[in-house]
Amino acid sequence: MPPTSPDDSPMDSWRNERRDQAVAAFQDRIPALYSNEINLHDDVNTWADCETGAPTSLFIWGPLGVGKTHTAWRAARRWVAAQFAGEYRGTPVVQTWRSTALFDALRPDSEGGTPKKLMRDLQTAHLLYIDDLAAARVSPSGWTQERLYEIFDERYVNRLPVLITSDVKPNQISHIVGERVTSRAAEIFRGGVVHLAGSDRRQGGAA
Ligand SMILES: Nc1ncnc2c1ncn2[C@@H]1O[C@H](COP(=O)(O)OP(=O)(O)OP(=O)(O)O)[C@@H](O)[C@H]1O
Ligand SMILES: [Mg+2]
Repeated sequence: MPPTSPDDSPMDSWRNERRDQAVAAFQDRIPALYSNEINLHDDVNTWADCETGAPTSLFIWGPLGVGKTHTAWRAARRWVAAQFAGEYRGTPVVQTWRSTALFDALRPDSEGGTPKKLMRDLQTAHLLYIDDLAAARVSPSGWTQERLYEIFDERYVNRLPVLITSDVKPNQISHIVGERVTSRAAEIFRGGVVHLAGSDRRQGGAA
């Protein structure tokens, strides 16, 4: 993140202050294991920096323990900082979910539906990060897939970014999210698919 220089206009300094506060608040949300800085893949940085021509959304996939979740948290942090580079549009709202927790939350509640506020939040957050999409051992119900469709379709038509980590490629997620989300995923993540290769870092492998 660029330091505030004495040449900055009052507007720049004000915006940089907002940026630093937003990044610090996001840093507090990052789980301890992923709190330290790591070197990110070039394509991940391109996405996070919102460079001209960069894809809106990012899908990080690869084998177990290769660093997908760590990469995603650091990338999201960097993305938050990048939101303050242009015109000031307020502090970005980021929804972060483990896929299993998300699928649980999308189930019908006692009133027979997914809470409306949750659906709205998932549809409209400036960034939606879903971790470990393929980790859900139990296939989500038709109900869950229908809610996921509503979330992805709303984000898709409004070109709102989605960040996903998974152990399979975007075209292999239909058994989890259904055909309609998978079809949209092809477009949402076009140019924004990053394969992290290597060995399981938890086993001490140099990935
Ligand atoms: N670039 C990196 N440099 C150093 N350590 C890293 C790096 N990326 C990840 N790690 C560490 O490696 C371990 C595994 O990382 P992480 O949990 O991100 O893997 P993952 O691909 O999400 O695994 P899983 O598929 O099981 O969800 C963690 O302890 C993490 O902090
Ligand atoms: Mg992970």
